[in-house]
Amino acid sequence: MLIQENVPLAPLTTLKVGGPARYFVQAHTIAEVGEAVSLARSRNLAFFVLGGGSNLVISDAGWPGLVLKVSIPGVEERSQGDKSLFEVGAGEQWDKFVAQAVSRNCAGVECLSGIPGSVGGTPVQNVGAYGQEVADTIESVLALDLKDGQVRELCNEACSFQYRTSIFNTSERGRYVILRVTYALTPDGEPAILYADLKKYFAGWSTKPSLADTREAVRQIRASKAMLITPGDEDCRSAGSFFKNPVLSDEQYKELSQRATAKGLQIPSYPALQAQRKISAAWLVEHSGFSKGYGNGRVGISRKHALAIVNRGDATAAEFVALKEQIQRRVEDTWGLRLETEPVFVGF
Ligand code: EPU
Repeated sequence: MLIQENVPLAPLTTLKVGGPARYFVQAHTIAEVGEAVSLARSRNLAFFVLGGGSNLVISDAGWPGLVLKVSIPGVEERSQGDKSLFEVGAGEQWDKFVAQAVSRNCAGVECLSGIPGSVGGTPVQNVGAYGQEVADTIESVLALDLKDGQVRELCNEACSFQYRTSIFNTSERGRYVILRVTYALTPDGEPAILYADLKKYFAGWSTKPSLADTREAVRQIRASKAMLITPGDEDCRSAGSFFKNPVLSDEQYKELSQRATAKGLQIPSYPALQAQRKISAAWLVEHSGFSKGYGNGRVGISRKHALAIVNRGDATAAEFVALKEQIQRRVEDTWGLRLETEPVFVGF
């Protein structure tokens, strides 16, 4: 296993900001992941696991310890009852796997087309879009438990998935290195056309959209919002949504919509679990004095989606943090709500 020193991390992220890793190793097998962990332990190095780099803000100082990039490859398909199980290496590109699932005509992840990042990152924040989330299809997660060095298979329930969370980014943060994820997909299943954007796309169609049609639709919709990585488009140099959509109790929601009504506005919201409402964070941003394209030329709000903060050219992590704080402050002053950030902040 090659141990590299002072490796720039910015190129390994979609945001393209941040400093270097003091030490850097890439693991292609479970054994190599184990070796990297032992190395970090024996040298007492702070340890950070990097996946596809699509949801990270790395500090300008970088990471003082060891960065492990998990590059475990492989997709294996097998049948189990009426499902097709896909056992996928954590290092596989997520969208490549989705393309493969769709080409095998297996349903369950088609709406998650065009999302950047690696397979290993998907359980961590329970990646979701257009009415699907990986919690719906994850059968199990194979992970190295740093507590005792054992490789464990965690079933779906053990991961405690919720909106953008799991045990991996809450109660057990830092405990596991994800090695493989098994998805249970439905052969010849129907595409999930649940969201308004998708329904609109297919509105004039006389034939039933296939899984492949749905994948194409999602990719086009994402591209129109600069949420599909398109080389050369600076509005795509982002970490996706920078803020989570706030999930409010019925009472909080009533209070907020009264505030909006007083301003002559209606706030977009969607039903969430347990009698809660999910509010559009993008809308809150746009109704707190920011518009798409806002910024100073180096860091700004995407011209195509108010939730993405983009790197327009040599931006620093400090500039991202400053804009994030400005947005959080103004939204809080205007709406009494504190937006939570969605990406992971590393080395701050
Ligand atoms: N909206 C605005 N301004 C904008 C964009 C959207 O006001 O610039 C309002 C509109 O009312 C729109 C609503 O926000 O109807 C929802 O917007 P959109 O459908 O674009 O979805 P989102 O809530 O901004 C979420 C996820 C995305 C996911 C999309 C599609 C979060 C934080 N974001 O975005 O996931 O792709 O839904 O399902 O949950 C990500 O997490 O990085 C991500 C890209």
